[in-house]
Amino acid sequence: MEIINRRQRMSSIARKLRRESKTVGFVATMGALHEGHLTLVKEARQMCDIVVVSIFVNPSQFGPGEDFAKYPRDLTADAAVLSEYGVDYVFAPETQEIYPEGFSTYVYVEGLTETLEGASRPGHFRGVATVVTILFNTVRPDFAFFGSKDAQQVGVIKRLTRDLGFETEIVVVPTVREESGLAMSSRNAYLTPELRQKASIIYQALREAKIAFKNGERNGSKLAQIVQTKIESEPVARIDYIAVVDNDALEPVEKIDDKEVLVAVAVKFDKVRLIDNIILNRRQ
Ligand code: PAF
Repeated sequence: MEIINRRQRMSSIARKLRRESKTVGFVATMGALHEGHLTLVKEARQMCDIVVVSIFVNPSQFGPGEDFAKYPRDLTADAAVLSEYGVDYVFAPETQEIYPEGFSTYVYVEGLTETLEGASRPGHFRGVATVVTILFNTVRPDFAFFGSKDAQQVGVIKRLTRDLGFETEIVVVPTVREESGLAMSSRNAYLTPELRQKASIIYQALREAKIAFKNGERNGSKLAQIVQTKIESEPVARIDYIAVVDNDALEPVEKIDDKEVLVAVAVKFDKVRLIDNIILNRRQ
């Protein structure tokens, strides 16, 4: 496994792999790897000849007062794990490599980025879309793997891939959960053991909505209410948003028909903000 810091070196390897007709699978991460990331890596390893993982804590997707400075960073530990999973290249650039002096070009995906996470974290998706565009342009993957926990991010990345004409197929991998049901996230590391246990209320609430849906409830507001009541039964949980939206356009759905519907939540436990979701009417 080679660790690459320079964009130019990554690009030249990507060109060589294309010449050799090797399929390249790509997993973009900010490090602090957990089972969720490793599931993406395993999927990439199975599907592709070559696996590239990027580790880059992207400053442009963090807002003022967010956790950019304290985001967990341990390249040595992450690289050791990745080599055990048969990764071929780790692309771990310094900030200057991605955002050289004078950098002033950003990617803004209209329409999908103003609601949910975009409303709570202004500028977040501009940062995500910009760095993913730079990474795709550098790595030129055939397949890129993302987790469905970040459902809105997946939508934004699919849209930019289509709109900017990248020859990359986006592969979406189901959320990996802790035994309690809590979705795996690098930010879970900020939770005390007690809060980590309490945070499992999020998935319990989403499951209650899913059961209600299975039992015939088709009203979006009523499903949101079910989620809200359950989460509010945990006094330390503070709801940021609960959304029941069309999974393509991310617009609110009142009456659910046979389209895919995303039930997405963001909830704070102390200072730790967690997101999770389920999809109703999932297409195969
Ligand atoms: O999901 C993440 O970890 C990040 O948003 C990503 C896709 C690596 C871009 O920085």
